[in-house]
Amino acid sequence: MDINIPIRKNCITALIGPSGCGKSTLIRVFNRMCDLVEGTKTEGIVFFDGENICKPNTDVLALRKKVGMIFQKPNPFPMTIKDNITYGPKLHGVKDQKELDEIVEESLKKAALWEEVKDRLHVSALSLSGGQQQRLCIARALSINPEVILMDEPTSALDPMATAKIEELSLELKKNYTVVTVTHNMQQARRISDYTGFMYLGRLEEFGRTKDIFENPQNELTKRYVSGIFG
Ligand SMILES: Nc1ncnc2c1ncn2[C@@H]1O[C@H](COP(=O)(O)OP(=O)(O)OP(=O)(O)O)[C@@H](O)[C@H]1O
Ligand SMILES: [Mg+2]
Repeated sequence: MDINIPIRKNCITALIGPSGCGKSTLIRVFNRMCDLVEGTKTEGIVFFDGENICKPNTDVLALRKKVGMIFQKPNPFPMTIKDNITYGPKLHGVKDQKELDEIVEESLKKAALWEEVKDRLHVSALSLSGGQQQRLCIARALSINPEVILMDEPTSALDPMATAKIEELSLELKKNYTVVTVTHNMQQARRISDYTGFMYLGRLEEFGRTKDIFENPQNELTKRYVSGIFG
């Protein structure tokens, strides 16, 4: 990949581009999820908090604690709502019940789901709607205090109402977190992101402020893509 991209703190950075251009591949490098794909080889440097996270001796578990990931299809664990949230903190050594309860409430509030589920924390997460499941996955990611949240087409399996809620939530989240989102929905990128990167055939063709990318793209391909001529 020929990519040089700044991810700014407390901003939403959107990655757009036609299917197969490498958006998921790139975002997976940011928390070394790429390691899980057999035969993957990476070149280059990704700086995060002054460290190159691509170097072989990176503590990948510690990195993934700081850089959480949300996927296209909501993937709650087949356990209760509460257990979905406490799973990570317990894994990282939190044992105190009161502290765990606080984490559950706080994470669900931050993910704008608390009011909808506070009376049924002990039911299966799989009984929630798709949109609620996705917000639960966001709450689960927040439960271990990440700094960055990566989202790979987080709304493509959701209806317009649930999508609007995730968009609204993303705008709220960027106050405290750095968000990188991959989306096929150009209107979504335009509505919520501060910066946009347009990718094509494994390259980053253009990167800039979202307004500039959509209203005044410098690159002919970007212009054609954002105006809907291809993609
Ligand atoms: N720069 C690259 N070098 C080698 N292989 C690449 C590169 N970019 C992408 N690929 C390969 O192309 C395929 C599709 O990439 P990826 O899944 O990242 O695309 P995508 O933009 O997320 O597409 P979609 O929008 O369909 O999800 C993968 O098999 C990936 O390994
Ligand atoms: Mg993808």
